[in-house]
Amino acid sequence: MSYFDSLQLLPEDPIFSIPRLFAADPRPNKVNLGVGNYRDAEGASYVLDCVRDAEAALLLKKSNKDYLPIDGDQKLLNLTKPLIFGQKYLDSLDGGLFITQTLGGTGALFQGGQFLCQTISKDIYIPDVTWPNHKQVFNNCGFDVHQYRYYDHRSHKIDFNRLCDDLSEMPQYSTILLHACCQNPTGLDPTNDQWMELSTLIKKQKIIPFFDFAYQGFKTSPEDDAFPIRYFLSQGHELLVANSFAKNFGLYGERVGTLSVLTKNKNSAPKAASLIKQRIRSNYSNPPRHGAELIAEILASYELTKTWVTELANMRDRLKEMRHTLQAGLQAKGDGMDWTFLKNQFGFFSFCGLNHGQVHRLIKDYAIYVPANGRINVAGLNAHNMDYVVDAILEVIHT
Ligand code: LMR
Repeated sequence: MSYFDSLQLLPEDPIFSIPRLFAADPRPNKVNLGVGNYRDAEGASYVLDCVRDAEAALLLKKSNKDYLPIDGDQKLLNLTKPLIFGQKYLDSLDGGLFITQTLGGTGALFQGGQFLCQTISKDIYIPDVTWPNHKQVFNNCGFDVHQYRYYDHRSHKIDFNRLCDDLSEMPQYSTILLHACCQNPTGLDPTNDQWMELSTLIKKQKIIPFFDFAYQGFKTSPEDDAFPIRYFLSQGHELLVANSFAKNFGLYGERVGTLSVLTKNKNSAPKAASLIKQRIRSNYSNPPRHGAELIAEILASYELTKTWVTELANMRDRLKEMRHTLQAGLQAKGDGMDWTFLKNQFGFFSFCGLNHGQVHRLIKDYAIYVPANGRINVAGLNAHNMDYVVDAILEVIHT
């Protein structure tokens, strides 16, 4: 008899199981379209030049390895505020703002979720469909996790009317999780006019917007992609933002993100800070410093920031080019099926409408690895594998 005999074996993570399965697959033509990691035109992992330069600069500075404060690198936090909220909006801010470094965007979602669940309400609403990890992150916070309608699978569009209907049923003080841009997995975001409408509805309903901002810069630009957050700020919302530096700085494994809490009254922010910092201290004590120092080094330098903006634009352009090439290939070879909807999507992902059976066949018959929700990471596409992927998708759809 063992104390552990009664443990249950849980299924593997639907996204993070893919690299392991992919690595174990001996087929030479295999293609990894799983985890949202950027890959260059040769399919290689990519470290940004600005990150390499910042690493060299840090080496010369011989910075120490002491603990950071519980809320992280203060230089990073001061530089992140304007990146997310815009200096002009910060200057006109009446209320309070607390920002803390977190263990990536996921850590920010967890810290923010736990704070809201323990202090405001146990109800959170996430989109149907969304990043598969949202549900379990918020369950772990203690939330009752509900869904609101977001995507119409038939028209491949946002179902804005149903979204608004569901919103008007959400109880007061509950939280709504919103993807600020490049919705994961659909790649579809509300228009600016729709964001304005959502702001009005959310205010009327007295619910708290919690923005997941994992893809800043991958839709249009770092500034434009922050529109919904800055607009909500300008409308006097109390809100939370979970930001991630994994994708836009290519610092996936460094685990750098931030959580921001915007409060109507100035004196609420230090109270929120005390609660969140107490939970961080009892969880992982304080965050790691290397990735935070790199980002701070880049954002504090005019030259490095310029390089970053250019490199981010290059990544964005390559993703767009791959998405459009995929669309053109499917359109050209696809028996008159209309694939133009793919061109309306932004960010890392293409949501082609593949079902579980089709995904299973892509993996089994073609060694093309895609998560069960059918989401394709277009960063995994390149000139070498594009035709193979197009043909395989059409094959599993038509046979
Ligand atoms: C993804 O959706 O693939 C990324 O956000 C990586 C992750 O943590 O799931």
